[in-house]
Amino acid sequence: MFSRFARHSQLIFIVKNAFSTSSKAESKVAVIGASGGIGQPLSLLLKNSPLISHLALYDIAHTPGVAADLSHIETKAKVTGHLGPDNLKECVEGAKLVLIPAGVPRKPGMTRDDLFNTNASIVRDIAECCSKVCPSAMLGIITNPVNSTVPIACEIYKKNGVSGFEKRIFGVTTLDTVRSNTFIAAEKGLDVSKVHIPVIGGHSGITIIPVISQCTPPVSFPQDDRVRITKRIQNAGTEVVEAKAGAGSATLSMAFAAAKFAMAMLEALNGMEGKVECAYVRSEETEAKYFATPILLGKNGLEKNLGLGKLIEYEVGLLKEAMPELQGNIKKGEDFVLK
Ligand code: APR
Repeated sequence: MFSRFARHSQLIFIVKNAFSTSSKAESKVAVIGASGGIGQPLSLLLKNSPLISHLALYDIAHTPGVAADLSHIETKAKVTGHLGPDNLKECVEGAKLVLIPAGVPRKPGMTRDDLFNTNASIVRDIAECCSKVCPSAMLGIITNPVNSTVPIACEIYKKNGVSGFEKRIFGVTTLDTVRSNTFIAAEKGLDVSKVHIPVIGGHSGITIIPVISQCTPPVSFPQDDRVRITKRIQNAGTEVVEAKAGAGSATLSMAFAAAKFAMAMLEALNGMEGKVECAYVRSEETEAKYFATPILLGKNGLEKNLGLGKLIEYEVGLLKEAMPELQGNIKKGEDFVLK
């Protein structure tokens, strides 16, 4: 009886501390699109973090209910709900980190680029508000097509004269590394918690470039297996869209990945050194103006772009193949704001 109680208490302790760190600093974090398929589980994971003192939830629907529900959880973060455009400003005011999963998701047969018309204006309007109300906050953009929505947000910040935005606007590509780690650990029978694969390029289809040659620990594959696994990682989002058969795209794994990114960012903002996450940022690493690479995060956001590292011939080929599509996606985003 005693031991069962002890095991139960231990389990509660582990769950409560799942996202804890030694740092005591506190932050306001805003989630925009908080009532959606990604927004709700993301907000739940964030509510579990002792690094967050205030979790501010914005959406055009259902935020009073989502906020009331989360506010009953016995963790530190205060939860507030903000409904509709008139209340966006108060949601992001004073936020250190704004995560944006607002928008429409894919249905079977759609590419991420097919979402452009609806989601581009949603991200534009949110970026417009953030650039004025919380210009020094970090932005984590989840809304697809990320290859275009990040350039849209950056162009808005540029237009509004915000300096240094390049260090604070991130396309959240963490799900690509999460998937790569999962798939390769399974292929090789490795402990997934110890597997790490950088993913560079963009965040859709052939623009997603898993750099398997830089895997920790090192792994080797015959070429046909390398090609098969690379294609699976590139099409993993579509795998979920098809399995959900019209009910949307990846939400739970995306929420996990975004929470992982958010925790790394908050730890770095609080002074923890050595936090590295792959993210899609404004970049000078290739001829594409925006490119995902491993990024060293620091107190001011992007501390150092760690670049592409050494690629094998196959990965150089993937990069060449990705470039025209990625640059087209970037131009589409920039043109949307400039026109
Ligand atoms: N402002 C704020 N929230 C908005 C807006 C807006 N202008 N427009 C829509 N939303 C909200 C919706 O009310 C909904 O609660 O965004 C949420 C989106 O949720 P879902 O439709 O469930 O979509 P989800 O699966 O969460 O994906 C959202 O993230 O990964 C991307 O491709 C995905 O672009 C899509 C986005």
